[in-house]
Amino acid sequence: MNNKFTFVTKIFLIKYFCVLFTICFVEGSFAQTNQIESKIDSLLSRMTLEEKIGQLNQFAGTNKQRDELVEEGKVGSFLGVKGAAEINRIQKIAMEKSRLKIPIIFGNDVIHGYKTTFPIPLAASCSWDTELVKSSAGIAAFEAASEGTNWTFAPMVDIARDPRWGRIAEGAGEDPYLGSAMAIALVEGFQGKNLSDKNTIAACAKHFVAYGAAEGGRDYNTVDISDRTLKEIYLPPFKAAVDAGVVTIMSAFNSLNGVPASANHYTITDILKNSWRFNGFVVSDYNSIGELINHGIAGNKAQAALKAITAGVDMDMVGDTIEGYVYEPNLSKLIDEKKLSIKVIDASVRRILRVKYRLGLFEHPYVDTSYFRNNSLASSYKNSVALRLAEESIVLLKNKKNILPLKKDIKSIAVIGPLADDHYDPLGPWACMPVPENVVTVLQGIKNLVPASTKIKYIKGCEIIGGDKKEFDNAVKVAGESDVVILILGESAGMSGEAASRTNIDLPGFQEKLAETIFKVGKPVVVVLMNGRPLTINWIAENIPSVLECWFLGDQTGNAIANVLFGNYNPSGKLSVSFPRSTGQIPVYYNHLNTGRPFQENNKYTSKYLDSPNTPFFPFGYGLSYTTFKYDSIKISENKIKIGDTTSVSVKVMNTGKAAGEEIVQLYLRDLVASVSRPVKELKGFKRIYLNPGEEKTVTFSITPAMLKFYNIDMKKVIKPGKFQIMIGGNSNAALSDYFYVEE
Ligand code: BGC
Repeated sequence: MNNKFTFVTKIFLIKYFCVLFTICFVEGSFAQTNQIESKIDSLLSRMTLEEKIGQLNQFAGTNKQRDELVEEGKVGSFLGVKGAAEINRIQKIAMEKSRLKIPIIFGNDVIHGYKTTFPIPLAASCSWDTELVKSSAGIAAFEAASEGTNWTFAPMVDIARDPRWGRIAEGAGEDPYLGSAMAIALVEGFQGKNLSDKNTIAACAKHFVAYGAAEGGRDYNTVDISDRTLKEIYLPPFKAAVDAGVVTIMSAFNSLNGVPASANHYTITDILKNSWRFNGFVVSDYNSIGELINHGIAGNKAQAALKAITAGVDMDMVGDTIEGYVYEPNLSKLIDEKKLSIKVIDASVRRILRVKYRLGLFEHPYVDTSYFRNNSLASSYKNSVALRLAEESIVLLKNKKNILPLKKDIKSIAVIGPLADDHYDPLGPWACMPVPENVVTVLQGIKNLVPASTKIKYIKGCEIIGGDKKEFDNAVKVAGESDVVILILGESAGMSGEAASRTNIDLPGFQEKLAETIFKVGKPVVVVLMNGRPLTINWIAENIPSVLECWFLGDQTGNAIANVLFGNYNPSGKLSVSFPRSTGQIPVYYNHLNTGRPFQENNKYTSKYLDSPNTPFFPFGYGLSYTTFKYDSIKISENKIKIGDTTSVSVKVMNTGKAAGEEIVQLYLRDLVASVSRPVKELKGFKRIYLNPGEEKTVTFSITPAMLKFYNIDMKKVIKPGKFQIMIGGNSNAALSDYFYVEE
């Protein structure tokens, strides 16, 4: 009795304090919000029109003339200024010499690391490890903040179904669910628990929106997609970023269904600001407001400025530097001519000031070098996150004769290929402040790992792009003298990223020829690929027994690859994007519709090509391990549920091989009959598990109402009663399947 009483009392007290804490917390944050808003009111009431428009301007780089503009309160932000000394110098002008002492926000592209360079985002998304990705963003934020950057133009959350598009390297691949998970991880990593902490920076989800759907995969090209595709595929990662608290969004270069993204009221104001209640600010992409003239929706810069600001673009990123900026001086003219209301300007200024307050810039405008000195992150920690993420990003595409993992006491190794001893390309197309000397090349990584007695012979073999076959004979000789050949092939960093689209996504130059020549020598060959997009590698995938997709892995490239080659790390990466068989198949993605005539063998009038299977070479979610996993006993807790109810599904996964390893268990759903066609499957959950040989684990997923919702014919989100299929497995061809029913 006594015990029971104590127990009940304890529970009551815990609940009481929880409620009290929640009230205080909510009230506290309300009070904080109110405080910020009244500070903004006060500032706005004192700002001149020029000072207000100043906040809406972002300049690229500093100079003497711009120092004067800062003093006059005409600069809201700088892009591309790096280093504590210069940033503190300019900030000092803003804080001491400008009339209202409004701090500047300094933005940079901290995409996958600041100094410590992590794998490119496409690679990191193949880890499916949101916690680790979050840690990498936390480190990047710390390093960037320690040198004065307050704001990163990341994460790039554009879904990309077209590997010709070079910017596929910057995002998380083809899937909105995985893309959303990565978006959340990166926003949380950059912005931390409290945005006003000194070691966090503002994030920016970009490029709003549907930039990845550029026609023909050509960068900056037109986008024409349905509202359904926009809402189901391209918007979700942005919504996830907003829900995770991202404080800025970048409007894109492309036009969307005829309306350029940087003048798109529907996407920026109706959806982002009104429907999603995003209360941060929107920055244009680099001169994308000025480019409204090229898009043909503005005859001059004044019209471009009017269209952008009324659509909801708050800050003008680097208008044209030669002829002057777009917002400045055009917005003031528009006000004078009564074409624009001051309320519109005020609303944008408010959003920008709000972010500056939330960042704590008014309280600590300068880089506090002593704080960063006293709280420095150990390089062992940074390198261990970089190494682990690099290892987890590697996808084992093929291991036919179990050539991998290699034995550590192997007598001789030939390391061949233009990327084998390269310190630059592994940094990828968008490293921020990289230190190439810190990049461990594959050759170095292998040398670090094997005993001194192992003979390692290295030869470049050919160039990445162009070149000739002059070194082929020597490469053949080196291969012939070795027990195993490791061929490191791929793209240069500059072949992906911005303005780097390709119509042919084969290995460039003479690299495939090199692989064919070396293969003929008859020694075991492993191909290690480095690239910023899926490539068409049919010959390699069909002939070379072991193939590792390594993307661009950053500083720890060589150590991570060597660890995988020699089995210190058992590969667990899963593709976040499909690998096509040919460019003619593009777009090829797993969550397609069924069509009225899905492919059937020996039936001519079904949806197919005469010269290629429909399927990709390697599907979304795919990746091998040095062990094998068996999926068994799928069980749904409730096979019949009411609309709004939750059920769950479990599956047994067993490690049936000889090595311990991690598996990424993937859950896919299909709504079999709905009012509009639904994809043949959609990823709705994933879990990473670790299993020792022979070990079995039961993995359970909740199936929540949110997972069953879709946009009906009226574009309303609903759950349709009926039959749903669940598929679970280690890739998007997940074979284990069962059904459940949702009833009215
Ligand atoms: C890119 C953005 C980038 C900006 C600033 C633009 O060209 O599209 O992704 O953030 O430049 O560097």
